Amino acid sequence: MSDKVVLAYSGGLDTSVAVRWIKEKYDMDVIAVTVDVGNEKDFGAICEKALKVGAVKATVIDARNDFVDDYIFPMLKAGAIYEGAYPLATSLARPLIALKLIEVAIAEGAGTIAHGCTGKGNDQVRFEIAINTLAPSLKIIAPAREWGMTREEAIQYAKKHGIPVPVQSGHAYSIDENLWGRSIESGVLEDPWVEPPAEVYSWTKSPADAPQLPAYCEITFEKGIPVALDGNPVVGAAMICRLNELAGEHGIGRIDHVENRLVGIKSREIYEAPAAVLLLAAHQALEDLTLSKDQARFKAKVSAEFADLIYDGLWFTANRLDMSAYIDSTQRFVSGTVRLKLHKGTCSVVGRKSPYSLYSHSLATYEKGDKFDQSDAPGFIRLFGLPAKTQAESQPLFKVTEKHGEEGK
Ligand code: ARG
Repeated sequence: MSDKVVLAYSGGLDTSVAVRWIKEKYDMDVIAVTVDVGNEKDFGAICEKALKVGAVKATVIDARNDFVDDYIFPMLKAGAIYEGAYPLATSLARPLIALKLIEVAIAEGAGTIAHGCTGKGNDQVRFEIAINTLAPSLKIIAPAREWGMTREEAIQYAKKHGIPVPVQSGHAYSIDENLWGRSIESGVLEDPWVEPPAEVYSWTKSPADAPQLPAYCEITFEKGIPVALDGNPVVGAAMICRLNELAGEHGIGRIDHVENRLVGIKSREIYEAPAAVLLLAAHQALEDLTLSKDQARFKAKVSAEFADLIYDGLWFTANRLDMSAYIDSTQRFVSGTVRLKLHKGTCSVVGRKSPYSLYSHSLATYEKGDKFDQSDAPGFIRLFGLPAKTQAESQPLFKVTEKHGEEGK
């Protein structure tokens, strides 16, 4: 009996070629596993294809709820965005996919896991760190890193072995999708000067084609987690799907980013993340209302660290658990409702309210009912500016000279 290997199978060219290639090179039985993180609709066809190209077994694992509850929401609470641009959809799903592959490997008695990542990307790092951390006895095979074929050679290999090759346009791109977003790279996008062609987008309308009139929506959060849309309770995955549609319709969520990969190269990636853009903006607006200045500033630092950690594939670490504990603690009073206006590619926060709001109208107002005692200001300014004034007296840096009104003097 041959050894078994669990392959992370997407149904695309590389992982289909991998089924055959593993059989040939390693003489192992391939169990194709497709993890549903909200990425595909036709899993039946994917399984069929896996079996057709030589897998001994093909299964789909529905991990959507795990993805939302254990990955997306913790990350939303953190407000994590990589390099200020990328809401981390692909990065976030990798550790969960690895976990599901490991579970299948244990259940099937397989000693090896295979994935279709190349040796140039971040995803190999994320998968392998997760596997090495959670199940160090499992071996790893990365066919696309080992086989040394160009894309053209892989297509020839596929043709030779009767593996269906998708030829529609759009396949010049490398695409990864899940509930939280869509990542598109390669092809003409490799030139960072080239504007992304319309064909790369599939979740979002062009802002030019979006409705003339704005739409409004209200998102209610409880302790940092979205729980209702326009006043109606909606569970996590459904909320994200609805917002993807709504924001996509209004041309919101397109991101064009040149990012720093963990393996040392810069890469240009297009993202579509309509729901993520909305939820991150709404969540941030609620924090603006409910966190103190000091909490907000400190949390922003943790948030940047958290984003790097997710990007770098360090999800299954003590450091991530510690950061998550801190982030959860900050969310105690992040409850309330945010009103968003969606219009032609932009999403603006136009209203926010919370029972725990720190915004005090009587302190902020310039109208009647003002409780702010302006006579406190001069003394405050004297003390606050004291170090600047003292330093200027003994270390003069700024010289103010007389100005003449007439030109030319
Ligand atoms: N650059 C993103 C990341 O490292 C997305 C990678 C997946 N990309 C793809 N388009 N196939 O998380």
